[in-house]
Amino acid sequence: PAERQALKARIAELLRARDAVLVAHYYVHPDLQDLAEATGGLVSDSLEMARFGRDHPARTLVVAGVRFMGETAKILSPDKTVLMPDLDATCSLDIGCPPDDFAAFRAEHPDRTVVVYANTSAAVKAQADWVVTSSCALDIVGALRDAGHRILWAPDKHLGGYIQRETGADMVLWRGSCVVHDEFKAFELEALRREYPEAKVLVHPESPAAVVAQADVVGSTSQILQAAANLPARVFIVATDSGLMHQLRQRHPDKLFLEAPTAGNGATCKSCAHCPWMAMNGLRGVLEVLETGLNEIHVAPELIPRARLPIERMLAFTA
Ligand code: 13P
Ligand code: SF4
Repeated sequence: PAERQALKARIAELLRARDAVLVAHYYVHPDLQDLAEATGGLVSDSLEMARFGRDHPARTLVVAGVRFMGETAKILSPDKTVLMPDLDATCSLDIGCPPDDFAAFRAEHPDRTVVVYANTSAAVKAQADWVVTSSCALDIVGALRDAGHRILWAPDKHLGGYIQRETGADMVLWRGSCVVHDEFKAFELEALRREYPEAKVLVHPESPAAVVAQADVVGSTSQILQAAANLPARVFIVATDSGLMHQLRQRHPDKLFLEAPTAGNGATCKSCAHCPWMAMNGLRGVLEVLETGLNEIHVAPELIPRARLPIERMLAFTA
């Protein structure tokens, strides 16, 4: 703990000295979440990370999350320096949607409005009409449906399927998934619910349909946090990355938060649901990039204006 405190103090000092701010996602290590809050940065969901990074006056953004979050920050603020603790921190949705294959998919459906999840590369965003995150996807696709659009959706099949069921929009889906949320098990969740019949079930929509079907609330990380604050319940079962447990337990020490099961056959799997790429972020990495200026995020300049358009559309829609 003493060493961690020293690391945090040194990082706080360097953030000030370098005119930098720390922007962290709810899935990264609790130390980074707390440090972001304590130093005037932000810990939040992917939508608010994007908005904060764009609007904050600091010249350098240190993004503790995964690559698409750093790229989004750079696309929105090309003049700022964007650093990340580990440039290999990617996302299975991003990996599973290569830009060329996506262009071919689009070419098969030229009449459709292209809506892509934020969890994609800059080269995929540059092919989109809209970028969405899980906290605004439902509202944006609902509005597009009302305006008569037919949708091409990528890359998360579970989130896309959920939106399709909820809005009734005409959608064709790319079939990607998140390695973390795809692991939640419906049958085991039923068993846990029988053990805790009073529990409310909070589910991130990247989870399989049979898990989403058991939810009291389906929502993004920030919407799960809101539900935990607003629902009159003491026990919650939560199907999302275990990083969010830190916020839930810190904000509500009087409530019990159980992780939704990821292991089948009744086996218990403690904290299995943790993104391996989010886990690449740590205090030492943040210190190192602040000291050295290494691990800068670059986005091809020719992509930036085209990729910025659908992201700015999303930010304006949710303002
Ligand atoms: P949100 O924070 O937008 O819910 O995103 C979830 C996610 O998987 C980010 O990697
Ligand atoms: Fe991607 Fe899933 Fe990790 Fe989020 S939790 S970064 S969606 S692999």
